[in-house]
Amino acid sequence: MSADELTTRARQVHILTCGEVEIEGRMPWSSNATFLVNVRCGDDTAQAIYKPLRGERPLWDFEPGLHRREVAAYHLSETLGFDLVPPTILRDGPYGEGSMQWFVDVDHRQHYFTIHEERPDLHDTLRGVAVFDLLANNTDRKSGHVLIDGDDHIWGIDHGLCFSADFKLRTVVWEFGGEPIDAALIAAVSRIVDRVPLEIATLLADDEVEAMLKRAEWLTENPVFPIDQSGRRYPWPMV
Ligand SMILES: Nc1ncnc2c1ncn2[C@@H]1O[C@H](COP(=O)(O)OP(=O)(O)O)[C@@H](O)[C@H]1O
Ligand SMILES: [Mg+2]
Repeated sequence: MSADELTTRARQVHILTCGEVEIEGRMPWSSNATFLVNVRCGDDTAQAIYKPLRGERPLWDFEPGLHRREVAAYHLSETLGFDLVPPTILRDGPYGEGSMQWFVDVDHRQHYFTIHEERPDLHDTLRGVAVFDLLANNTDRKSGHVLIDGDDHIWGIDHGLCFSADFKLRTVVWEFGGEPIDAALIAAVSRIVDRVPLEIATLLADDEVEAMLKRAEWLTENPVFPIDQSGRRYPWPMV
């Protein structure tokens, strides 16, 4: 990340943290209560995605508190230096505690499948998404959870279903299967091999932190993108 990007992210985190929140509407197609909000902080206004704990649909395979995983995913992206997840914080909002994520201005006609097909120049960034998902144990990497903005920046969203202690990756990103993982990506992974940063660990259960360390270790020892032998590790729907 450049110094300018770092400054921008810090400013965005500040606005999300300090701003006054006003609900603008509920996002269409969302499975949980996901709100588009306006955040006003001094002279700055911004839009954000607010996911309150209270709006979660109960799941059999994840404890309540998916919003915490959204925040953990942001910190993981930062720790790796990927700048993949838009700034996401934990805070109180109109419907209580939730995650607040910077709303990125993307071209909604584009998503993973179209980006992969049309933008070979961005494949390295997509390889980063695959590595992120392996580490985060993402069970919901739909094509529409990979977005691109006007500056060709790739963003990953919707990380509530990550960090399970059991390995259950479900993703649409399989094109790189069998390829060696680049040394630069492995160097990023090695940042969490010895220790998961506290800001991530405090948001997860102990066995989930342990499992992430194991995945990081496994990746550094076997730096190859996995192949889906079962053919079942896909989210539904895929887009
Ligand atoms: N940070 C964001 N910036 C821009 N659009 C977003 C962002 N987060 C979510 N969206 C949009 O809102 C939709 C629903 O959000 P998502 O995180 O997928 O919620 P759900 O958990 O309900 O599936 C996404 O498909 C995307 O179009
Ligand atoms: Mg979604």
